[in-house]
Amino acid sequence: MLAVCVCWMYCFIAFNQALATTEPPTSSSPTEKVNDYSQIESKFALRTAEVPDDDTCYLLPGQAETVSNCNFNHTSKTFVVIHGWTLTGMYESWVPKLVDALYKREPDSNVVVVDWLSRAQQHYPVSADYTQLVGRDVATFIDWMEEELNYPVDNMHLLGYSLGAHAAGIAGSLTKKKVNRITGLDPAGPNFEYADAPSRLSPDDANFVDVLHTYTRGSPDRSIGIQKPVGHIDIYPNGGSFQPGCNLGEALLLIAEKGLGDVDQLVKCSHERSIHLFIDSLLYDEKQSMTYRCNSKEAFEKGLCLSCRKNRCNTLGYKVNKVRSKRSTKMYLKTRAQMPYKVFHYQVKVHLFGKKNWTLTNQPFLVSLYGTEGESENIAITLPEVSTNTTYSFLVYTEVDVGDLLMLKVTWEKDSFFSWSNWWNTYAFEIRKIRVKSGESQKKIVLCSKDAAHSYLQRGKGPALFVKCFEPIHSKNHD
Ligand SMILES: *[C@@H]1O[C@H](CO)[C@@H](O)[C@H](O)[C@H]1NC(C)=O
Ligand SMILES: *[C@@H]1O[C@H](CO)[C@@H](O)[C@H](O)[C@H]1NC(C)=O
Ligand SMILES: *[C@@H]1O[C@H](CO)[C@@H](O)[C@H](O)[C@H]1NC(C)=O
Repeated sequence: MLAVCVCWMYCFIAFNQALATTEPPTSSSPTEKVNDYSQIESKFALRTAEVPDDDTCYLLPGQAETVSNCNFNHTSKTFVVIHGWTLTGMYESWVPKLVDALYKREPDSNVVVVDWLSRAQQHYPVSADYTQLVGRDVATFIDWMEEELNYPVDNMHLLGYSLGAHAAGIAGSLTKKKVNRITGLDPAGPNFEYADAPSRLSPDDANFVDVLHTYTRGSPDRSIGIQKPVGHIDIYPNGGSFQPGCNLGEALLLIAEKGLGDVDQLVKCSHERSIHLFIDSLLYDEKQSMTYRCNSKEAFEKGLCLSCRKNRCNTLGYKVNKVRSKRSTKMYLKTRAQMPYKVFHYQVKVHLFGKKNWTLTNQPFLVSLYGTEGESENIAITLPEVSTNTTYSFLVYTEVDVGDLLMLKVTWEKDSFFSWSNWWNTYAFEIRKIRVKSGESQKKIVLCSKDAAHSYLQRGKGPALFVKCFEPIHSKNHD
């Protein structure tokens, strides 16, 4: 496992060395596109709902009969799936899963898988260069469909993963008419982070470009997924750098349970999460994850970005609201570690009163939410700082749909390390009201201390309880 992991990471990241030693592929400029179909190396397999895991019928540009032979449906939309770099030279296990999910959601659609495996199996930088040629192949295919077969480009949705996202972008920039949509699934970072828009995925490659960034860990030139926004809407789940359930410990646990079959997938867990988030949006129509526009991941962590006004929130994945602003929009959300990924986001705002002037850092709290539909207990929160007579805002999220919030419980836990000041002091704050805003319902509620005018929140002691206030509250009042 470790060996595979290290090797994979090495192969992917060590593109600099490889660049120095490997000849780049000889290629004519991608802009001089010719209608010589014999130059096309990529293969276009129209998969079926019955056999989502195998290429059984190929659409051959220039040969119109292949389209009817493969039972291509001219009145339905077409999804074009483009894979990324591969160590093994084989399709990865996500391909049939995505194909299957697309057919489950759109049974009449055409799902075309682009096979560029031989070019994708080279040293990373060589394969990265090949995305230009693959993009040109795909563009030629799309133009042929449009010109020779009158298939509307407006029905085309390209989905590209990793290097495939950039191939989709190149394709989109070369077609005679713009394709309807490109979804970039964690577009590759190395060789593309600093590339010009024409040689990578960018917003002008389709009428609408949405991008999921799920593995952008590390410095920009080393990050496996591209860090900068490259679409109309760029979503950074869980901050974008790394995904829950993907650390090595968790991966090893999964291997212990499920065996070594999916090692490949585990190694690329965060990278591939982009695909599974999209699959999730296809399969769990009733559990659509919401995303929220935010300037930074830090502001999102404070719960400051849960607004839905002026298109500030959106749904993740297939049913995205196609909002196109001039500048690309960064969106954030939290997710579960498994499908269905949806969670419910809350902003909690609280003012900590006190007689004594205290400032403490990295304090652990437990928050429990009780609502009309259910409850979610002991959600762990760490506040970077708590200080007397200061207002704090933070994000709380849970996979449980609690409905309308009725009651909230906070416990201030002892932090783990011992200090003399901890020994002598009983840290406590007084809380009068807690303001909560739900991202999913957009409802705001003010909770008051359950028994008295205020509750004491004492470190290491029992919880403070807050219930929906009875009196009308002046919403601008800050206490
Ligand atoms: C083609 O798709 C349309 C919907 O777009 C559907 O009504 C029709 O039945 C499909 N045709 C075939 C042959 O499956
Ligand atoms: C905090 O504010 C209250 C008034 O709201 C005041 O009585 C108290 O002394 C202040 N505490 C500190 C430490 O300044
Ligand atoms: C509380 O401490 C902060 C610095 O930690 C200081 O700026 C502030 O003036 C203090 N307030 C009172 C009322 O002592």
